[in-house]
Amino acid sequence: MSIFEKLESEVRSYSRGWPVVFDRALGSWLYTEDGKGYLDFFAGAGALNYGHNNPVLKKALLDYIARDGVIHALDMYTVAKRDFLEAFDQTILQPRSMDYKIVFPGPGGANAVEAALKLARKVTGRESVINFTNAFHGMTLGALSVTGNSMKRGGAGIPLVHATPMPYDHYFDGAYPDFLYLERLLKDSGSGLNEPAAVIVETVQGEGGINAARLDWLRGLSELCKRQGILLIVDDVQMGCGRTGAFFSFEDAGITPDIVCLSKSISGYGIPMALTLIRPELDVWEPGEHNGTFRGISPGFVTAAEALRTYWSDDDLEKSVRAKGERVAAGLGEIAENYPDAGLVTKGRGLARGLEFANGDLAGRVCRAAFERGLLMETSGPNGEVMKLLPALTTSDAEFTQGLEIIAESVEAVLGG
Ligand SMILES: Cc1ncc(COP(=O)(O)O)c(C=O)c1O
Repeated sequence: MSIFEKLESEVRSYSRGWPVVFDRALGSWLYTEDGKGYLDFFAGAGALNYGHNNPVLKKALLDYIARDGVIHALDMYTVAKRDFLEAFDQTILQPRSMDYKIVFPGPGGANAVEAALKLARKVTGRESVINFTNAFHGMTLGALSVTGNSMKRGGAGIPLVHATPMPYDHYFDGAYPDFLYLERLLKDSGSGLNEPAAVIVETVQGEGGINAARLDWLRGLSELCKRQGILLIVDDVQMGCGRTGAFFSFEDAGITPDIVCLSKSISGYGIPMALTLIRPELDVWEPGEHNGTFRGISPGFVTAAEALRTYWSDDDLEKSVRAKGERVAAGLGEIAENYPDAGLVTKGRGLARGLEFANGDLAGRVCRAAFERGLLMETSGPNGEVMKLLPALTTSDAEFTQGLEIIAESVEAVLGG
């Protein structure tokens, strides 16, 4: 392992919690070079909703490569891109009567966020954006400016400006009516709040600690944005593509954002790919005004189209995610009940689940104990106090049983006796 320590920057992080060398992966399992299997409840931080090396997607990819399909094409027209756009239109947009145009903003989630912020500012001519406490939107400067975490923000090295944080749902535990503060500031010409171009929000804050906003809160936010003429950006980079059940995590709230950011599992195979969906009236870009070399990654289009046709032509996956999510929530709830003095709190929606501990040390020790028992989970939250479960949506019932058993043992190892 010394080559990693010798050459790879100190910025590496996941490898520190899981100090083994992985080689193969299939479904919900990662295997080290020595052949030891780890049940993966991390799923590439939500980039592998359909599991590792999903055989249906792999076949489509291998066929495409075997016939020398174009791999790199900037934003040229390709058969692969056409096939993806048609599949997205037929399986996602049309059945939901959604009217969005698609920007290919670059390969990652932060690219989707940057494009969203840039476009919102261009359309409205305003600079300011409202973000939320404990939000995470990526590590580029624009995305960082609307991110909460102080350690990540500190890495910017320059002031992060033109964003105003507001309390996310549950921030004051119901002590104040929803949006009292934001609406008052917006209406008060003496408040000092710059008129915002947009509000950017996650429906469930993944990195922020699996904080699931109430659907009513999301509806309230959407109505407020409409009343005040502010664009609503939903960052569905981590919670989209079925993570909470429906394809888009905001569908349960019945809202229609002006702009939607998607990435992570949109390619379905772990291939970098991102989309920024925009209401057609917002499409005021000049040709090439937002550009980049990796905006048309054909292998991603191929696996994405196949994933959409395979998993989103009916509602089987959606139903199964909801059922499995309830099961995981119940399992975590039972664990929490076993330690009444530890104040454990279960969190989440669909298959984005969390168990909050009193502090980050405990959550970290539980995740380490799980790793020793062959289960991969990360922590999230401002102090790493939430044990975070983001399993592949295709994880089987037997694998959930196994994973929940390991979690129960790991919590016992840390909190028991
Ligand atoms: C909600 C959200 N937005 C944006 C990003 C940034 O995505 P990327 O790391 O691909 O730039 C993430 C990454 O975790 C995310 O969870």
